[in-house]
Amino acid sequence: MLHEEEAYREGLQIEDLNHVTLNGRKIVPMTTDDAPVRIAVIGAGLIGRRHIQHILAEPRCRLAGIVDPDPNARRLAQQAQTTYYAEIDAFLKAADAEAAIISTPNDTHAPLGIQCAQAGLHLLVEKPLAADLRSGAALIEQTVKSSIQILVGHHRRFNPYIEATRRILEAGTLGTVTAVNALWTTLKPDGYFDVAWRRRPGGGPVLINLIHDIDCLRYLFGDIERLYAESSSGVRGFAVEDTAALVLRFCSGVLATIVTSDAAASPYNFESATGENPLLHAAAQDCYRIFGTRATLSFPDMTLWDYEGADGQGWSDPIASRRCPVEFAPPLERQLRHFCDVVRGNTAPRCSAEDALKTLTVTLAVGEAARKGAPITFDWAGLPDG
Ligand SMILES: NC(=O)c1ccc[n+]([C@@H]2O[C@H](COP(=O)([O-])OP(=O)(O)OC[C@H]3O[C@@H](n4cnc5c(N)ncnc54)[C@H](O)[C@@H]3O)[C@@H](O)[C@H]2O)c1
Repeated sequence: MLHEEEAYREGLQIEDLNHVTLNGRKIVPMTTDDAPVRIAVIGAGLIGRRHIQHILAEPRCRLAGIVDPDPNARRLAQQAQTTYYAEIDAFLKAADAEAAIISTPNDTHAPLGIQCAQAGLHLLVEKPLAADLRSGAALIEQTVKSSIQILVGHHRRFNPYIEATRRILEAGTLGTVTAVNALWTTLKPDGYFDVAWRRRPGGGPVLINLIHDIDCLRYLFGDIERLYAESSSGVRGFAVEDTAALVLRFCSGVLATIVTSDAAASPYNFESATGENPLLHAAAQDCYRIFGTRATLSFPDMTLWDYEGADGQGWSDPIASRRCPVEFAPPLERQLRHFCDVVRGNTAPRCSAEDALKTLTVTLAVGEAARKGAPITFDWAGLPDG
């Protein structure tokens, strides 16, 4: 029997520093701090293509392959001059990657993420972290076991308007925040539903879109204590909802209402309001209103409303508005740069997997609260603060 060290040497093949294998399995070589981060994209659909564009434009990283069974992805890889893999096993065996962005359908995030983590790849997993809590927890467990970094793609945390709103809240400009009203409403065209998983439970506006608003509000106001919800699939009649209405109580005491619908002709949604997504027509309307004892902030037009003059005024006094200027920069680009820092160990992930699991917990509870017609109260004891 071979000694362990000899066995190791037997199986170790070094062609050059970028092509080191152990028993046929690729080993990720050591990198220096300023070397471009080699990132592969797994799932080159709607959002994966945007990640690819940002990677190609970003000097701090390099595209290390595209993994997707769709033949269009092969053409895309040719155009992007990167290696194409039809499936994950071939990629993990051969690819020269140290990190991966997983932008595949929700129910594949955890299994693909676990495989990548086992291979030592750092991860940017698109939201939601997973399709269910059990597989989300399994993914977290594997990332800890494999000592890899994981960032979850709640990219709105990198939106300059959200960052400015956090600064305004931290400065106490609004006084005590009493309530928030949020809208995510638009009309998804019929063709969007040609993809089967978007018609099934988990593929609708709650898990695809509302999850962003829940995460945004958690990022601004902390953990959620209780949730009430109603949902409906009355317009399209698919198994998945097309509309939902929520009431939330945050642990901080802030109350919120959210209305979401992907079956409504409306400009009142985060993407149209901020113009952050080129796929949605920009409409420059507000989508959140944050109400405080001193002032109200309308978001993302960043209009602050407060009474003129000294304290102690009320509804019969003149109320004036002013704008807080914000310089826009694409959140996905900013998220990618942050991911490079996370991979290089320079910073902690702005949206950790544990944090994303909390967002997922609340989001999944929307369906349950609506089905039961009863509120859901969350117990975050033992989990890190959100
Ligand atoms: N952050 C955001 O704003 C945002 C926006 C859209 C979608 N998303 C998320 O990104 C994910 C993808 O959404 P989409 O709209 O781009 O979907 P999509 O259907 O357009 O693309 C998914 C791609 O994954 C590929 N794929 C499926 N199984 C695969 C596998 N096992 N290995 C490799 N590739 C595989 C498909 O062929 C397809 O090309 C979803 O989880 C969604 O929630 C996030």
